Amino acid sequence: PSFGIVIVAAGRGERAGAPTEGPKQYRPIGGKPVICHTLDVFSTWNRSGRIVAVIHPDDEALFRRAVEQLDDNTKIVSVHGGRTRQQSVLAGLRMLEMSGVSHVMIHDAVRPFIEHALLDRIAETLADGASCVLPAIPVADTLKRGTAHGHVIETVSREGLFAAQTPQSFRFETILAAHEAAVAAGRDNFTDDAAIAEWQGLPVTLAAGSPDNVKLTVKRDLAMADEKLTRTLI
Ligand code: C5P
Repeated sequence: PSFGIVIVAAGRGERAGAPTEGPKQYRPIGGKPVICHTLDVFSTWNRSGRIVAVIHPDDEALFRRAVEQLDDNTKIVSVHGGRTRQQSVLAGLRMLEMSGVSHVMIHDAVRPFIEHALLDRIAETLADGASCVLPAIPVADTLKRGTAHGHVIETVSREGLFAAQTPQSFRFETILAAHEAAVAAGRDNFTDDAAIAEWQGLPVTLAAGSPDNVKLTVKRDLAMADEKLTRTLI
């Protein structure tokens, strides 16, 4: 199968300290913007077709500068995102509609440590016949339910609980139809694409995610990512 790629990067990243320091997907780690690392992994993967970066209209210049730093940016196009992640994904999917891809991977720009091995694993699961694949890792911490006032109510069993990652990957027509159905039903705030598939009653298959494939959410995550890359370079 040929894979279209949607990289969502239209968020404002407020939790990482924006707007003063700019959205986190353009902040440097290991000497390059976060999004460069992410785009690099997909543009060098041998099964990628067109790559759609979904960006915020205010970030045009930042995005252009990031793309100029890539070794190979020939597959990359961009489109403006929406108010929610869901709307941004749909904008990206619609950009791929004419390109004839059979499958799509939908990835957060702020997960730069994605690796080809995980993409290959997901591709194999799709090739085996799955139409929706979710990379995830078993929850490692002991989980507690607590009150807003800081009191523990109970311990929650972590058996059968997984932390969802991206790229969540799908048969292209299947996820586009699910997204269009969500919009038609007035739903615009699903936090991930597998949730839209689940809402549609589609079977979602788990694939083994990677502990390295973390989402850079707060300022500290960026500092740790920068340190990790700098250490690797030495
Ligand atoms: O806000 P959250 O951490 O869930 O964002 C996950 C990804 O979705 C980020 O890469 C962010 O840039 C993207 N996003 C988007 N459009 C939005 C909100 C988030 O592309 N309106």
